Amino acid sequence: MGKRILVVGAGGLIGSEAASALEASGHEIIRASRSTGEQVDLTDPTSIEALFARIGDVDAVVATTGVVPFKPLDELTLEDFRDGIADKALGQIGLVTIATPHVRDGGSFTLTSGVLSREPIETGAVASAANGALDSFAIAAAAGLPRGIRINTVSPSVIAEATGYHSSFPGFPQTPVSEAARAIVRSVDGVETGQVFSV
Ligand SMILES: NC(=O)c1ccc[n+]([C@@H]2O[C@H](COP(=O)([O-])OP(=O)(O)OC[C@H]3O[C@@H](n4cnc5c(N)ncnc54)[C@H](OP(=O)(O)O)[C@@H]3O)[C@@H](O)[C@H]2O)c1
Repeated sequence: MGKRILVVGAGGLIGSEAASALEASGHEIIRASRSTGEQVDLTDPTSIEALFARIGDVDAVVATTGVVPFKPLDELTLEDFRDGIADKALGQIGLVTIATPHVRDGGSFTLTSGVLSREPIETGAVASAANGALDSFAIAAAAGLPRGIRINTVSPSVIAEATGYHSSFPGFPQTPVSEAARAIVRSVDGVETGQVFSV
C-alpha cells in the first residue's frame, strides 16, 4: 500500500531523485525545504512543529539536507564546526526528535550522512564530524524509537552529478544519484533498522 512520505530537501540533488523514485513506487510524497514545497528550516524547531501542524501524520520521513563548510583543517574555526554540525547533524537529529510523535506505527526515518564519516579528504573535517554524528545517532535511535519505527542513514560517496565537488574527492568512487535514491527506497520500503547504507 502507498505510504505518505515527507522528504525534506526535496529540491536538492539527492532529495529530488529520492522523491521521484519513491513516487514511482506508488507513494504519496510531501516535498519540503526552506525555499521549495512545504517550507521548513530544520535548524528551527518551531518551524518543524509548524510543518507537522500543517501536514499531519506520515508513514516515513526522509532528510537529505545539510550545509557544511569545506576548508583545510588549519583554516576551520570552532564556529565552522558549530555551524556545520548544527545545520547537517542537529538539523536532521532535531527532525527525528520532533517528528517521532507524527510518524505512524511501523514507520521510518531515513537520514543522509556521507562517506566522510569513514574516509577523509583534505577539506572535509566538518562534514566528517557531522556525518559521524548522524551515523552514530541512527544506531542509537534505532534501539530507542517507539512503536516499531525504524531509522537508517544513507551514506553516499561523492555524487557523480555533483561535479563541483569532484576535485575535492580525488580518485574516490562517484555514486550516481540514482543509486543514492535507490538506497533511500530500500530504507523506506525495507525492514532494516540501525543501518548505515554506504553507496
Ligand atoms: N552531493 C554529494 O556529492 C553528496 C555526497 C555525500 C553526501 N551528501 C549529503 O547529502 C545531502 C544532500 O546533498 P545534495 O547534494 O542533494 O544537496 P543539495 O542539492 O544542496 O540539496 C540540499 C537540500 O536541502 C535543503 N535544505 C538545506 N538546508 C536545509 C534546512 N536547514 N532546512 C530544510 N531544508 C534544507 C535545500 O533546500 P533549501 O536551500 O531550499 O532549504 C535542498 O533542497 C547533504 O547532507 C550532503 O552533505 C552529498
